[in-house]
Amino acid sequence: MSQHRPDTASNPEPNPIAYEQEVYARGLKYQRPPFTFDSTQWEPLALARLSAEARGYVYGCAGHRETNDKNIAAFRKWGIVPRRMVKTTGFTDLSTVVFKGTKWEEKLSSPIAMAPVGVQRIFHSEGETAATMAAAKEKVPYILSTANSTSIEDVTKANGEGGIRWYQLYWPTRENDDITISLLQRAKKAGYTTLFVTLDTYILGWRPSDMDNGYNPFLRADNIGVELGFTDPVFQKRFKEKLGKSIEEDKGAAAADWTRTIFLGVSHGWEDVEFLKEHWDGPIVLKGIQTVEDALKSVEVGVQGIVVSNHGGRQQDGGVSSLGMLPRIVDAVRDEIEIFFDSGIWCGADIAKALALGAKCCLIGRPYIYGLALGGEGGVSHVLKALIGDLDLTLHLSGIPSVSRDVLNQKLLLREEEL
Ligand code: FNR
Repeated sequence: MSQHRPDTASNPEPNPIAYEQEVYARGLKYQRPPFTFDSTQWEPLALARLSAEARGYVYGCAGHRETNDKNIAAFRKWGIVPRRMVKTTGFTDLSTVVFKGTKWEEKLSSPIAMAPVGVQRIFHSEGETAATMAAAKEKVPYILSTANSTSIEDVTKANGEGGIRWYQLYWPTRENDDITISLLQRAKKAGYTTLFVTLDTYILGWRPSDMDNGYNPFLRADNIGVELGFTDPVFQKRFKEKLGKSIEEDKGAAAADWTRTIFLGVSHGWEDVEFLKEHWDGPIVLKGIQTVEDALKSVEVGVQGIVVSNHGGRQQDGGVSSLGMLPRIVDAVRDEIEIFFDSGIWCGADIAKALALGAKCCLIGRPYIYGLALGGEGGVSHVLKALIGDLDLTLHLSGIPSVSRDVLNQKLLLREEEL
């Protein structure tokens, strides 16, 4: 059964076109919007505000940034070919349904979600709380990271009754199965419907910007990046037994211990997915898939979705572009599994292209973090509205009435090199 969240007077369906009209109406009174709509400026403006450590952490990539640069360049290889005289009765219908036909289907107002991003309090004092409030307001699913600086329970309170919440697991090593079970139970209890399991980060990548600052946010004696562990009853008990003191008494040791629990540097194997299936009642989505072989394997082990992602080029350098890999993965598995996509999305046309190439839903990463740095909840809301509005008009003016696959597909695109 669909779990579409009802509109209420205090939280009506977002209307990015009305947002645009409001901006022009204010302009008649010579008022400028508080945040820029030029999405190429979000990054430089936000970076200028952040500490060297936070700047290095968000902008940082693995090695020479080649994977990240290719992610962005890959979008420019495709061009949108607009159709004319497609009679329309309104703007493009951006709503979509994920896990359709299963007991877990969920209707989304637009085909985007907020990517799991940890440590958000280094970008703004209200961190995840501000981001998740914006998510609820704009009716965009919020994916909560295991590397949060706010607990599952506090994010849930801020996200509120109507929010769509998904949970991202940094998967503790198998000797810590009891901690994994505890995290999953807490997420389930707090209304997180889908489990995203990140496969590409069993240790942080080789990131020169962080090493130059000597900065690993997970190792400091504070709650940044480790709050899910610090608030976990099983981890609390384990820590006390091991060190004879509480987390509060030695946050430095606790941070190091939690970091070892989730980023020990060894990967799980495909056979371990069975354990997650046993302990999670809901869709499981594997994040970080970049090959046809791994996509096929995901189908074989019986999960419900994948995220075609290379973590925004943060984990491994010299990689392929995530968008470049998308079409062949889609060709191999599309009807058997839900396909999410991220890495390199910066504007509405980028989202349109990823959808046309077969993604059901795109995760937005750095852009919303820059919105957070620029203006907390308001900044995140602005970024989400701007991306959705840009997507809507890009599709509408290309003659595409909805995001359904029969009208939005690869026929919308041509390779620039072929022109
Ligand atoms: C991330 N990402 C990430 N992914 C994840 O599964 N768990 C996490 O905690 C984090 N943390 C995180 C922090 C920061 C600062 C960034 C920029 C990214 C990766 C994220 O979910 C997503 O895959 C990428 O951000 C997508 O690439 P773009 O959109 O940033 O290019």
